[in-house]
Amino acid sequence: MERFYFEEPTLERKADAFDFVEEFNSYNSNLYGAGGFKRYLNDYEGWIKKLEEDKYRKVDEEHVSARTYFFVRECDKRIIGIINIRLALNEKLKQYGGNIGYSIRPTERGKGYNNINLYLGLKVCAAHGIEEALLDADLDNPASWKTMEFFGGKRIREYFSEYDKKVVVDYKINVKNALEIGAKFESLICNSK
Ligand SMILES: CC(C)(COP(=O)(O)OP(=O)(O)OC[C@H]1O[C@@H](n2cnc3c(N)ncnc32)[C@H](O)[C@@H]1OP(=O)(O)O)[C@@H](O)C(=O)NCCC(=O)NCCS
Repeated sequence: MERFYFEEPTLERKADAFDFVEEFNSYNSNLYGAGGFKRYLNDYEGWIKKLEEDKYRKVDEEHVSARTYFFVRECDKRIIGIINIRLALNEKLKQYGGNIGYSIRPTERGKGYNNINLYLGLKVCAAHGIEEALLDADLDNPASWKTMEFFGGKRIREYFSEYDKKVVVDYKINVKNALEIGAKFESLICNSK
């Protein structure tokens, strides 16, 4: 049985991390939930340092405390996806972005992996006392908002984003309820070591 875990990005994973991001480029795919990785392509070490600093940020209009994890498959240690979990919301994130952003690499999509990725992310939310998680997606990205709906997410807003020139949908997920829905994934989760 395939099993999965979250792994904090490290220097040792540099080559794998670049292979991961390269795949998004070659498929011309969006990459979300990567903790700003694309801004650090010339400075992987700087990205690792930034992620460490992200853990301890005080909430202000530009920053909140956050965690970024690689979503990894146990059998081959492949980085399957990535997730960025904002542990608090400032006004900016309430308007756009919410608590969680995520991506699954193009060659691993459509296998139900993002449900497991978000399940692990919601466990992190619960561990930090987040009772309701706010997430958003483009209306034309059903693979993303269907993941939210799988976990009982309620669509609370639908609006046209002038910035993206797209309709964006906001979802609220009750974390406790979502973890009950996702409990069946427990057997697919393991520790990284
Ligand atoms: C969105 C994304 C993370 C989904 O990952 P995934 O592993 O393919 O998703 P899953 O296989 O777990 O499927 C999640 C749900 O979406 C549905 N789905 C998957 N691909 C779909 C598609 N192309 N069209 C419609 N629904 C789709 C699945 O059936 C599943 O719904 P279900 O549980 O009701 O069956 C992935 O497409 C991605 O990384 N996209 C680029 C980055 C991105 O858009 N991130 C989200 C930003 S809000």
